[in-house]
Amino acid sequence: MNEILEALFHRRAVKAFEAVEIPQVLREQILDAARHAPSSFNSQPYRFFWVESSPRKATAAKLCMGQMPAATASALVVAVADIGSLAGTWQARWEWMGRSGFSHAKIRDHERTAKIGQILFMPGPFGIFGALKWAIFRLVNLWTTMGMPPVFRQDLLKWATKSTSLACENLMIAAEALGLNTCPMEGFDGRRLSRFLGLSTRYHEIGMVIAIGKKSPAYAEPPQWRRPLDATVTVL
Ligand SMILES: Cc1cc2nc3c(=O)[nH]c(=O)nc-3n(C[C@H](O)[C@H](O)[C@H](O)COP(=O)(O)O)c2cc1C
Repeated sequence: MNEILEALFHRRAVKAFEAVEIPQVLREQILDAARHAPSSFNSQPYRFFWVESSPRKATAAKLCMGQMPAATASALVVAVADIGSLAGTWQARWEWMGRSGFSHAKIRDHERTAKIGQILFMPGPFGIFGALKWAIFRLVNLWTTMGMPPVFRQDLLKWATKSTSLACENLMIAAEALGLNTCPMEGFDGRRLSRFLGLSTRYHEIGMVIAIGKKSPAYAEPPQWRRPLDATVTVL
């Protein structure tokens, strides 16, 4: 079978790990694979916290309700949707384009898109600007075909979470391909874990925590069940 498909089909949510140290070179490959996932407007609106040092990992595991995968993993990766990173990302990309010899026209295009993005994607204080944008877009949509951009803060966090989740899947498949195992988890105390990591309630939302390590030889994987293809797919 193709190697990528093999990693994809072999990945399981592993519930118990054996204590191994993940070498830095593997950690970097795994995180690099995560950030190569596609993201809306290439905005990469996330931050990964790789928690491996022993007192911090123990605290993070406790905040994952002490679940077995969290307690036994070599590291916990907290995947955070981050809408506070947008302005910095657009600026960094603009600088990269300048350094990489893009034409002035292309750089101007990027500036224009970034400005439109900032207007579309900023909810403004108390969401007032968001409400105004929502009303305008809704009205325009009565006459013309258009997508609804994320206007309120919650929409924006949901928008960022989509790209974050794709990066998470890349991370898990990369770990599998490199001989490691993972377990994605949403069983955690988001409020306390956010506070522990110093996150802002305004800009950040934890999407999931991924336990990563080497499957314990004592762990017996249950058979994998999926709904039949025709229950999940509509071919038109
Ligand atoms: C968003 C998400 C949240 C999950 N949360 C947990 C969790 O808190 N604890 C856990 O043990 N497994 C968790 N899982 C793992 C699922 O239970 C697992 O993926 C599912 O049962 C299918 O098993 P498989 O991945 O081995 O095929 C989560 C999976 C996803 C995608």
